Amino acid sequence: MRQQNLLYAHSGGVTAVINASAAAVVAAARASGRVGKVFAAWRGIVGVLEEALIDTAGLDEAALVRLARTPGGAFGSCRFDLPHDDGGAAMDRLFAVFDAHDIGWLLYNGGNGSMDAVARIQAEAARRGHALVCVGVPKTVDNDIVGTDCCPGFGSAARYLATSMLEAGLDTASMVGSKGSVFVMEVMGRNTGWLAAATALAAQGDPDRAPHIVLVPEARFDEAAFLARVREIVERLGYCAVTVAEGIRRPDGSLLMEKSRDARGYVQLGGAGLAVARRINERLGYKFHWAIPDYLQRSAGHWLSATDRAQAEAVGRVAVEYALAGQGGTMPAIRRLQDAPYRWDVVAVDTAAVANLERSLPDGFVRADGLHVTTAACDYMRPLIEGEIPPPVAGGLPDYGRWDWAPVARRLAAWQA
Ligand code: F6P
Repeated sequence: MRQQNLLYAHSGGVTAVINASAAAVVAAARASGRVGKVFAAWRGIVGVLEEALIDTAGLDEAALVRLARTPGGAFGSCRFDLPHDDGGAAMDRLFAVFDAHDIGWLLYNGGNGSMDAVARIQAEAARRGHALVCVGVPKTVDNDIVGTDCCPGFGSAARYLATSMLEAGLDTASMVGSKGSVFVMEVMGRNTGWLAAATALAAQGDPDRAPHIVLVPEARFDEAAFLARVREIVERLGYCAVTVAEGIRRPDGSLLMEKSRDARGYVQLGGAGLAVARRINERLGYKFHWAIPDYLQRSAGHWLSATDRAQAEAVGRVAVEYALAGQGGTMPAIRRLQDAPYRWDVVAVDTAAVANLERSLPDGFVRADGLHVTTAACDYMRPLIEGEIPPPVAGGLPDYGRWDWAPVARRLAAWQA
């Protein structure tokens, strides 16, 4: 019997464990015995449109293990939303590529926008009477996908950031001088404060340990209250460590800082940490250092959370099961069964119900004064950063994989966007 092929693609911001999902997809598809070839698209959905496919047959078992522990997106990634206003041209092209390469299953790894693509592609398959089954694979360091208790990628970024705050807090505390010293760290997360909140784990329940203040987008930035708190902490401890989410907003709702905006309206955030640090210096005269871990937090493969990595693998593996069972339009989601000891499993969620939504920190996770997060937030996050997976080391550096993909021969004319 002819076996159809499976296509895997990932889009959006990558994570330290995204390739663990990819490796799990490849391994599960092979193990099923029901899939012909396992293809990956080069640069996500753009790669599908451009018919830029890779045959993963070249990945032997050792290479799959190496893939799973390598941060970054081994198959590239993209920021691209399927257009709604192109008269169906992009959808026509996607289905032409599926047909040209006998794709029976599309597994799409991404965040909120990608889950929208999954729902739309599956609906389009139904409309056309096409047998394609499209399943989502959730990931994002932002932890903001609705319908899942947490998102693969978040736990490792959270662990890296909490560790960085713990270590930089010790450094700042030791450099206390007569003028007062402040350390500000800006973290990712776009409109949500999950990653900022994760840095609170560094304090391990001690209010005198870093971070002393955590600013999240869910609470509007009240500058006067913030500066008063910084002063109070510096007067008491000699220093103050502050986490600033990149997407914090003024009381009128506008972003404190945006780095750039492209022609399609995609806003790149960045600079809020420096803005806050400068304001402290101008108003209170304290010496400051500031850091923006930026891609470091998304790519810290040397300091993975084993829990996160296990969840990234699980969603990849289970997505293949859903696909082969014909459960199109779903995504495997993490369900928390118990906090301590932490237990979780994977359940199917309808992508149409969660697409394009954003899960913010719940009210109970942000302190009433908007200057820190609560014990409940720390209790939620603690298990997600647990477990060690030290990378193999070569020459003093993590021994990551490097890939030289062989492209699948194109069968269609070039895609004209
Ligand atoms: O979507 C995840 C994310 O890491 C955000 O937290 C961050 O704002 C954004 O990606 C950065 O994306 P890019 O790499 O496209 O600039």
